Amino acid sequence: MQTREIVVSGIRPTGFLHLGNYFGAIRQYLHMQQTYECYFFVADYHSLTTHQNPHELRNHVYRVLAEYLACGLDPEQATIYVQSDMPEKAELYLLLNMLAYKGELEKVPTFKEKIRGKKEGINAGLLTYPVLMAADILIHRATKVPVGKDQEPHLEMARNLASRFNQKFGFLFPEPTAYSETGTLLKVPSLDGKGKMSKSENEMATIYLADSDDIIRKKLARAKTDAGPQTPHSPKSPEIENLFLLLKLVSAPETLAYFEQAYDNCTIRYGELKQQLADDIISLIAPIRERAAALQKDIHTLQKIRKQGAEKACASARQTLLQARALMGIQYD
Ligand code: ADP
Ligand code: TRP
Repeated sequence: MQTREIVVSGIRPTGFLHLGNYFGAIRQYLHMQQTYECYFFVADYHSLTTHQNPHELRNHVYRVLAEYLACGLDPEQATIYVQSDMPEKAELYLLLNMLAYKGELEKVPTFKEKIRGKKEGINAGLLTYPVLMAADILIHRATKVPVGKDQEPHLEMARNLASRFNQKFGFLFPEPTAYSETGTLLKVPSLDGKGKMSKSENEMATIYLADSDDIIRKKLARAKTDAGPQTPHSPKSPEIENLFLLLKLVSAPETLAYFEQAYDNCTIRYGELKQQLADDIISLIAPIRERAAALQKDIHTLQKIRKQGAEKACASARQTLLQARALMGIQYD
């Protein structure tokens, strides 16, 4: 029997999922679950590095699970689980920490960004965030990791740790790479032209999978534009480039071509573009929103899926952890 390539990815339960999560990560999960051996999880330990509200966590974890399923992840095809349901991962994280250097961790761009302007409260979990992420991936000996552009530095760290382990103790881990179907990792921009859509920042500039039709229209109406092209074939400003990128993601190719042409010959009306964009985003999101709301009420089904997923995922993880321990000499029987 030919073995299938292994795929791993996760999303932190830090708030409602949004279009960035959908196009950067989930849409690829949907395609990959049909061909690869896939493990998709809820990264609850990772969320504790920045979000520590014990009263919210359970709800947030089940919401991500519900949104995964509502988007079309299929527990029969992919293994869907919650990070903290797998103790093997925490142990591999501990072992990999012995191979990670303080200097390299301090240089990781996401770490630098998260501590910018902060003098206190920088916890060690934040510094070793990429080590835990490497454990997430290496515990399954995965090769492909579907993620958005922001995760590239973390994948580099995972490759470094894998190769360092292999060199020091003997081969165990293939080196994983960030994966995107198109070959280019995606960054879905926020509607205010500043940075990317994100779960916990600039709410009015991010479109969530749980947003009502009304809110989606309001957010798009407020999206930044410019004075419009003054001469044919002029370059687009960053705000307009962002709207076109969204159009490319959610609308039909003819629709995109229609607005490209209107832009090029200076007849474009941004109001019309925004309305079209809102319609197409609503067609994508409304059914996901309804399914997720229904699933969230059915906690028994979600719990069952979570437990079955953990069982399957842990069986694969146990083997890897035993090999890692043996290679490191932790074997005393
Ligand atoms: P957030 O940054 O919104 O808190 P996560 O950090 O949990 O979300 O990201 C989960 C996945 O979604 C990762 O693969 C990440 O690269 C992807 N992702 C998040 N935001 C975007 C975005 N704006 N564009 C593309 N991918 C994104
Ligand atoms: N760090 C990722 C993010 O913030 C989430 C994540 C945790 C992840 N572990 C992972 C993604 C393993 C892919 C593989 O988006």
